[in-house]
Amino acid sequence: MLHEKNEFNLDMPHRPRRRRRTPAMRGLVRETRLTAQQLIYPLFVHEGPDEPIDAMPGCMRWSMDGLCAEVGRAAALGICAVVLFPKVDNKYKSTTGDEAYNPQGLIPKAITRLKSEYPDVLVITDVALDPYSSDGHDGIVDQTGEILNDQTVQVLCKQALMQAQAGADIVAPSDMMDGRVAAIRQTLDANGYTNVSIMSYSAKYASAFYGPFRGALNSAPKASGSNGKKNPGDKLTYQMDPANAREAITEALLDEAEGADIIMVKPAGAYLDIIYRLTGVTTLPIAAYQVSGEYLMIKAASEGGWIDEKKIVLESLLAITRAGADMILTYYAPQAALWLNEA
Ligand code: PBG
Repeated sequence: MLHEKNEFNLDMPHRPRRRRRTPAMRGLVRETRLTAQQLIYPLFVHEGPDEPIDAMPGCMRWSMDGLCAEVGRAAALGICAVVLFPKVDNKYKSTTGDEAYNPQGLIPKAITRLKSEYPDVLVITDVALDPYSSDGHDGIVDQTGEILNDQTVQVLCKQALMQAQAGADIVAPSDMMDGRVAAIRQTLDANGYTNVSIMSYSAKYASAFYGPFRGALNSAPKASGSNGKKNPGDKLTYQMDPANAREAITEALLDEAEGADIIMVKPAGAYLDIIYRLTGVTTLPIAAYQVSGEYLMIKAASEGGWIDEKKIVLESLLAITRAGADMILTYYAPQAALWLNEA
Protein backbone atom coordinates (compact mmCIF):
# COMPACT_ATOMS: atom_id res chain seq x y z
CA MET A 1 0.00 0.00 0.00
CA LEU A 2 1.91 2.94 -1.36
CA HIS A 3 1.47 6.32 0.19
CA GLU A 4 2.36 9.53 -1.48
CA LYS A 5 5.49 10.89 -0.03
CA ASN A 6 4.51 13.83 2.01
CA GLU A 7 6.69 16.43 3.58
CA PHE A 8 4.83 15.89 6.85
CA ASN A 9 5.62 12.15 7.08
CA LEU A 10 7.37 11.45 10.34
CA ASP A 11 10.39 9.20 10.20
CA MET A 12 8.81 6.41 12.23
CA PRO A 13 9.32 2.65 11.67
CA HIS A 14 6.72 1.70 14.28
CA ARG A 15 3.18 2.72 13.55
CA PRO A 16 0.87 0.54 15.71
CA ARG A 17 -2.11 1.99 13.86
CA ARG A 18 -1.09 -0.06 10.81
CA ARG A 19 -2.48 -3.08 12.67
CA ARG A 20 -5.83 -1.40 13.30
CA ARG A 21 -6.64 -0.33 9.74
CA THR A 22 -9.34 -2.84 8.79
CA PRO A 23 -11.61 -5.37 10.47
CA ALA A 24 -9.59 -8.20 8.88
CA MET A 25 -6.32 -6.81 10.20
CA ARG A 26 -7.77 -6.25 13.67
CA GLY A 27 -9.12 -9.80 13.58
CA LEU A 28 -5.67 -11.23 12.81
CA VAL A 29 -3.94 -9.48 15.68
CA ARG A 30 -6.71 -9.87 18.25
CA GLU A 31 -5.26 -11.38 21.45
CA THR A 32 -8.43 -12.38 23.28
CA ARG A 33 -11.63 -13.93 22.06
CA LEU A 34 -14.90 -14.35 23.84
CA THR A 35 -17.06 -17.39 23.12
CA ALA A 36 -20.31 -18.74 24.51
CA GLN A 37 -18.42 -21.90 25.52
CA GLN A 38 -16.64 -20.10 28.33
CA LEU A 39 -19.82 -18.70 29.91
CA ILE A 40 -21.52 -20.21 32.95
CA TYR A 41 -25.12 -19.26 33.66
CA PRO A 42 -26.17 -18.81 37.33
CA LEU A 43 -29.84 -19.60 37.90
CA PHE A 44 -32.20 -19.28 40.85
CA VAL A 45 -34.75 -21.94 41.66
CA HIS A 46 -37.54 -21.95 44.23
CA GLU A 47 -40.69 -23.82 45.15
CA GLY A 48 -43.23 -21.37 43.70
CA PRO A 49 -44.11 -20.30 40.17
CA ASP A 50 -41.66 -18.36 37.97
CA GLU A 51 -41.30 -14.86 39.37
CA PRO A 52 -39.16 -11.87 38.44
CA ILE A 53 -36.48 -10.76 40.93
CA ASP A 54 -37.02 -7.08 41.81
CA ALA A 55 -33.39 -6.41 42.67
CA MET A 56 -32.14 -8.08 39.46
CA PRO A 57 -34.34 -6.98 36.55
CA GLY A 58 -34.23 -9.57 33.79
CA CYS A 59 -33.50 -12.43 36.22
CA MET A 60 -36.07 -14.86 37.56
CA ARG A 61 -36.66 -17.19 40.43
CA TRP A 62 -37.61 -20.25 38.43
CA SER A 63 -39.99 -23.06 39.19
CA MET A 64 -38.63 -26.52 38.34
CA ASP A 65 -40.38 -26.45 34.94
CA GLY A 66 -39.29 -22.87 34.30
CA LEU A 67 -35.70 -23.74 35.18
CA CYS A 68 -35.69 -26.62 32.75
CA ALA A 69 -37.09 -24.53 29.93
CA GLU A 70 -34.58 -21.74 30.60
CA VAL A 71 -31.65 -24.17 30.58
CA GLY A 72 -32.97 -25.53 27.28
CA ARG A 73 -33.04 -22.02 25.80
CA ALA A 74 -29.53 -21.28 27.08
CA ALA A 75 -28.17 -24.58 25.76
CA ALA A 76 -29.63 -23.82 22.32
CA LEU A 77 -27.58 -20.61 22.37
CA GLY A 78 -24.40 -22.52 23.15
CA ILE A 79 -24.25 -22.27 26.95
CA CYS A 80 -22.68 -25.49 28.24
CA ALA A 81 -22.74 -24.98 32.03
CA VAL A 82 -25.15 -23.68 34.65
CA VAL A 83 -24.80 -23.04 38.36
CA LEU A 84 -27.80 -23.42 40.65
CA PHE A 85 -28.84 -21.36 43.66
CA PRO A 86 -31.92 -22.18 45.74
CA LYS A 87 -34.27 -19.72 47.40
CA VAL A 88 -35.34 -21.75 50.37
CA ASP A 89 -38.53 -21.18 52.32
CA ASN A 90 -37.92 -19.90 55.88
CA LYS A 91 -39.54 -23.01 57.30
CA TYR A 92 -36.62 -25.12 56.04
CA LYS A 93 -33.94 -22.87 57.53
CA SER A 94 -32.12 -23.65 60.75
CA THR A 95 -29.02 -22.63 62.66
CA THR A 96 -27.16 -25.70 61.38
CA GLY A 97 -28.49 -25.49 57.81
CA ASP A 98 -29.34 -29.19 57.66
CA GLU A 99 -31.65 -28.71 54.68
CA ALA A 100 -28.42 -28.21 52.70
CA TYR A 101 -27.98 -31.99 52.46
CA ASN A 102 -31.60 -33.09 52.26
CA PRO A 103 -31.69 -35.50 49.29
CA GLN A 104 -35.34 -34.52 48.68
CA GLY A 105 -34.45 -30.80 48.65
CA LEU A 106 -34.85 -28.33 45.80
CA ILE A 107 -31.30 -28.59 44.50
CA PRO A 108 -31.04 -32.39 44.17
CA LYS A 109 -34.44 -32.38 42.45
CA ALA A 110 -33.23 -29.72 40.04
CA ILE A 111 -29.97 -31.57 39.34
CA THR A 112 -31.73 -34.85 38.60
CA ARG A 113 -34.24 -33.19 36.33
CA LEU A 114 -31.64 -31.17 34.42
CA LYS A 115 -29.25 -34.09 33.98
CA SER A 116 -32.05 -36.28 32.61
CA GLU A 117 -33.24 -33.61 30.13
CA TYR A 118 -29.87 -32.08 29.19
CA PRO A 119 -27.17 -34.65 29.95
CA ASP A 120 -24.54 -32.61 28.09
CA VAL A 121 -25.04 -29.43 30.07
CA LEU A 122 -22.68 -29.27 33.04
CA VAL A 123 -24.53 -28.79 36.31
CA ILE A 124 -22.57 -26.89 38.94
CA THR A 125 -23.84 -26.59 42.49
CA ASP A 126 -23.11 -24.09 45.23
CA VAL A 127 -21.68 -25.51 48.45
CA ALA A 128 -22.39 -23.16 51.39
CA LEU A 129 -25.02 -22.90 54.09
CA ASP A 130 -26.36 -19.37 53.60
CA PRO A 131 -29.57 -20.25 51.69
CA TYR A 132 -30.38 -22.75 54.47
CA SER A 133 -29.12 -20.83 57.49
CA SER A 134 -31.56 -18.99 59.73
CA ASP A 135 -28.60 -16.73 60.55
CA GLY A 136 -27.90 -15.92 56.90
CA HIS A 137 -24.28 -17.07 57.19
CA ASP A 138 -22.31 -19.48 55.04
CA GLY A 139 -21.37 -21.45 58.15
CA ILE A 140 -22.70 -22.39 61.55
CA VAL A 141 -22.74 -19.52 64.05
CA ASP A 142 -22.07 -20.29 67.71
CA GLN A 143 -23.52 -18.53 70.76
CA THR A 144 -20.78 -15.91 70.75
CA GLY A 145 -21.35 -15.02 67.11
CA GLU A 146 -18.31 -16.88 65.80
CA ILE A 147 -18.69 -18.70 62.49
CA LEU A 148 -17.40 -22.19 63.25
CA ASN A 149 -14.92 -23.50 60.70
CA ASP A 150 -14.44 -27.23 61.21
CA GLN A 151 -18.04 -27.99 62.21
CA THR A 152 -19.22 -26.14 59.11
CA VAL A 153 -16.85 -28.11 56.88
CA GLN A 154 -18.45 -31.34 58.12
CA VAL A 155 -21.85 -30.14 56.94
CA LEU A 156 -20.41 -28.89 53.65
CA CYS A 157 -19.03 -32.37 52.99
CA LYS A 158 -22.48 -33.87 53.46
CA GLN A 159 -23.92 -31.20 51.17
CA ALA A 160 -21.34 -31.79 48.43
CA LEU A 161 -21.77 -35.57 48.66
CA MET A 162 -25.55 -35.29 48.36
CA GLN A 163 -25.13 -33.04 45.31
CA ALA A 164 -22.73 -35.54 43.72
CA GLN A 165 -25.17 -38.37 44.43
CA ALA A 166 -27.90 -36.37 42.70
CA GLY A 167 -25.68 -36.05 39.62
CA ALA A 168 -23.82 -32.74 39.91
CA ASP A 169 -20.81 -32.52 37.57
CA ILE A 170 -19.00 -29.85 39.56
CA VAL A 171 -19.44 -28.81 43.18
CA ALA A 172 -18.48 -25.24 43.95
CA PRO A 173 -17.74 -24.36 47.59
CA SER A 174 -18.41 -20.63 48.02
CA ASP A 175 -18.27 -20.59 51.83
CA MET A 176 -14.60 -19.63 52.37
CA MET A 177 -14.10 -21.99 55.34
CA ASP A 178 -10.49 -23.17 55.69
CA GLY A 179 -9.74 -26.71 54.55
CA ARG A 180 -13.04 -27.39 52.86
CA VAL A 181 -11.62 -28.31 49.47
CA ALA A 182 -9.48 -31.12 50.91
CA ALA A 183 -12.34 -32.38 53.07
CA ILE A 184 -14.82 -32.34 50.19
CA ARG A 185 -12.34 -34.05 47.83
CA GLN A 186 -11.77 -36.79 50.40
CA THR A 187 -15.48 -37.29 51.00
CA LEU A 188 -16.25 -37.47 47.27
CA ASP A 189 -13.41 -39.90 46.61
CA ALA A 190 -14.23 -42.12 49.57
CA ASN A 191 -17.73 -42.48 48.16
CA GLY A 192 -16.69 -43.23 44.61
CA TYR A 193 -17.25 -39.77 43.12
CA THR A 194 -13.73 -39.36 41.77
CA ASN A 195 -15.18 -37.87 38.55
CA VAL A 196 -16.96 -35.00 40.23
CA SER A 197 -14.92 -31.81 39.97
CA ILE A 198 -14.41 -29.06 42.52
CA MET A 199 -14.59 -25.43 41.43
CA SER A 200 -13.40 -23.54 44.46
CA TYR A 201 -14.29 -19.94 45.21
CA SER A 202 -10.68 -19.35 46.22
CA ALA A 203 -10.49 -15.58 46.32
CA LYS A 204 -13.97 -14.58 47.36
CA TYR A 205 -14.08 -11.06 48.72
CA ALA A 206 -16.44 -9.63 51.35
CA SER A 207 -18.06 -7.47 48.70
CA ALA A 208 -21.00 -5.07 48.61
CA PHE A 209 -21.45 -6.20 44.99
CA TYR A 210 -23.36 -9.25 46.32
CA GLY A 211 -26.23 -7.09 47.61
CA PRO A 212 -28.80 -7.87 44.91
CA PHE A 213 -28.10 -11.63 45.14
CA ARG A 214 -28.81 -11.65 48.85
CA GLY A 215 -32.08 -9.89 48.11
CA ALA A 216 -32.90 -12.51 45.47
CA LEU A 217 -32.38 -15.37 47.94
CA ASN A 218 -33.42 -13.58 51.12
CA SER A 219 -30.03 -14.73 52.46
CA ALA A 220 -28.41 -11.60 53.92
CA PRO A 221 -26.54 -12.17 57.18
CA LYS A 222 -28.68 -11.23 60.14
CA ALA A 223 -27.04 -9.09 62.81
CA SER A 224 -29.41 -10.38 65.46
CA GLY A 225 -29.49 -14.07 64.79
CA SER A 226 -31.82 -16.83 65.79
CA ASN A 227 -32.15 -17.58 69.55
CA GLY A 228 -31.40 -13.94 70.34
CA LYS A 229 -27.73 -14.43 69.41
CA LYS A 230 -25.51 -11.50 68.58
CA ASN A 231 -24.25 -12.33 65.10
CA PRO A 232 -21.92 -10.45 62.81
CA GLY A 233 -24.00 -8.61 60.20
CA ASP A 234 -21.26 -9.11 57.65
CA LYS A 235 -19.02 -11.91 56.35
CA LEU A 236 -15.69 -10.28 57.15
CA THR A 237 -14.37 -13.14 59.29
CA TYR A 238 -14.44 -15.58 56.39
CA GLN A 239 -14.64 -13.71 53.09
CA MET A 240 -11.53 -11.79 52.04
CA ASP A 241 -10.73 -8.17 52.74
CA PRO A 242 -11.07 -6.20 49.46
CA ALA A 243 -7.78 -4.51 50.38
CA ASN A 244 -5.77 -7.73 50.00
CA ALA A 245 -4.16 -9.15 46.89
CA ARG A 246 -1.23 -11.32 48.07
CA GLU A 247 -3.64 -13.18 50.35
CA ALA A 248 -5.53 -14.30 47.22
CA ILE A 249 -2.39 -16.15 46.17
CA THR A 250 -2.27 -17.95 49.52
CA GLU A 251 -5.90 -18.99 49.13
CA ALA A 252 -5.44 -20.14 45.53
CA LEU A 253 -2.33 -22.19 46.31
CA LEU A 254 -4.01 -23.83 49.28
CA ASP A 255 -7.00 -24.80 47.15
CA GLU A 256 -4.71 -26.13 44.43
CA ALA A 257 -2.82 -28.24 46.97
CA GLU A 258 -6.10 -29.45 48.47
CA GLY A 259 -7.30 -30.75 45.10
CA ALA A 260 -9.36 -28.02 43.46
CA ASP A 261 -9.85 -28.53 39.71
CA ILE A 262 -10.78 -24.91 38.99
CA ILE A 263 -10.24 -21.84 41.13
CA MET A 264 -12.38 -18.72 41.16
CA VAL A 265 -12.05 -15.01 41.75
CA LYS A 266 -15.18 -13.16 42.84
CA PRO A 267 -16.33 -10.46 42.10
CA ALA A 268 -14.71 -10.05 38.67
CA GLY A 269 -14.78 -6.50 37.33
CA ALA A 270 -13.25 -4.71 40.30
CA TYR A 271 -10.78 -7.57 40.88
CA LEU A 272 -9.11 -7.94 37.48
CA ASP A 273 -5.72 -7.50 39.14
CA ILE A 274 -6.42 -10.55 41.30
CA ILE A 275 -7.33 -12.65 38.26
CA TYR A 276 -4.15 -11.52 36.54
CA ARG A 277 -1.99 -12.28 39.58
CA LEU A 278 -3.36 -15.79 39.84
CA THR A 279 -2.42 -16.53 36.21
CA GLY A 280 1.17 -16.11 37.34
CA VAL A 281 1.04 -18.53 40.27
CA THR A 282 -1.14 -21.44 39.21
CA THR A 283 -1.67 -23.47 36.07
CA LEU A 284 -5.22 -24.38 37.11
CA PRO A 285 -8.08 -22.97 35.06
CA ILE A 286 -9.39 -19.72 36.51
CA ALA A 287 -13.04 -18.77 36.74
CA ALA A 288 -14.33 -15.28 37.49
CA TYR A 289 -17.82 -14.37 38.72
CA GLN A 290 -19.44 -11.24 37.34
CA VAL A 291 -21.72 -10.93 40.36
CA SER A 292 -25.20 -9.55 40.91
CA GLY A 293 -24.09 -5.97 41.67
CA GLU A 294 -21.99 -5.85 38.50
CA TYR A 295 -24.96 -7.17 36.53
CA LEU A 296 -27.31 -4.68 38.13
CA MET A 297 -25.12 -1.65 37.48
CA ILE A 298 -25.01 -2.44 33.77
CA LYS A 299 -28.69 -3.38 33.63
CA ALA A 300 -29.90 -0.28 35.48
CA ALA A 301 -27.75 2.08 33.44
CA SER A 302 -28.95 0.53 30.19
CA GLU A 303 -32.58 0.60 31.26
CA GLY A 304 -32.07 4.29 31.93
CA GLY A 305 -30.86 4.64 28.35
CA TRP A 306 -27.48 5.92 29.50
CA ILE A 307 -25.23 3.21 28.11
CA ASP A 308 -25.18 0.72 25.25
CA GLU A 309 -25.97 -2.53 27.05
CA LYS A 310 -24.65 -4.91 24.40
CA LYS A 311 -21.34 -3.12 23.99
CA ILE A 312 -20.79 -2.70 27.72
CA VAL A 313 -21.62 -6.32 28.50
CA LEU A 314 -19.36 -7.73 25.78
CA GLU A 315 -16.54 -5.34 26.72
CA SER A 316 -16.81 -6.21 30.42
CA LEU A 317 -16.69 -9.94 29.65
CA LEU A 318 -13.81 -9.50 27.22
CA ALA A 319 -11.87 -7.54 29.84
CA ILE A 320 -12.36 -10.30 32.41
CA THR A 321 -11.11 -12.81 29.84
CA ARG A 322 -8.13 -10.62 28.93
CA ALA A 323 -7.18 -10.39 32.61
CA GLY A 324 -6.80 -14.17 32.55
CA ALA A 325 -10.15 -15.79 33.32
CA ASP A 326 -10.77 -18.98 31.35
CA MET A 327 -14.46 -18.97 32.19
CA ILE A 328 -16.97 -16.44 33.48
CA LEU A 329 -20.08 -16.85 35.57
CA THR A 330 -22.50 -14.17 34.45
CA TYR A 331 -26.23 -13.52 34.59
CA TYR A 332 -25.81 -12.20 31.06
CA ALA A 333 -24.68 -15.62 29.77
CA PRO A 334 -27.55 -16.44 27.35
CA GLN A 335 -27.91 -12.82 26.23
CA ALA A 336 -24.17 -12.54 25.63
CA ALA A 337 -24.20 -15.84 23.73
CA LEU A 338 -26.97 -14.49 21.52
CA TRP A 339 -25.02 -11.30 20.88
CA LEU A 340 -21.84 -13.28 20.14
CA ASN A 341 -23.72 -15.51 17.72
CA GLU A 342 -25.03 -12.56 15.73
CA ALA A 343 -21.66 -10.79 15.68
C1 PBG B 1 -23.07 -17.36 49.06
C2 PBG B 1 -22.96 -16.79 47.70
C3 PBG B 1 -23.07 -15.43 47.42
C4 PBG B 1 -22.96 -15.29 46.04
C5 PBG B 1 -22.79 -16.55 45.51
N1 PBG B 1 -22.77 -17.48 46.54
C6 PBG B 1 -23.36 -14.28 48.32
C7 PBG B 1 -22.56 -14.10 49.53
O1 PBG B 1 -21.45 -14.62 49.67
O2 PBG B 1 -23.05 -13.40 50.39
C8 PBG B 1 -23.05 -13.97 45.35
C9 PBG B 1 -23.34 -13.98 43.90
C10 PBG B 1 -23.76 -12.68 43.34
O3 PBG B 1 -23.77 -11.63 44.00
O4 PBG B 1 -24.11 -12.69 42.15
N2 PBG B 1 -22.46 -18.54 49.33
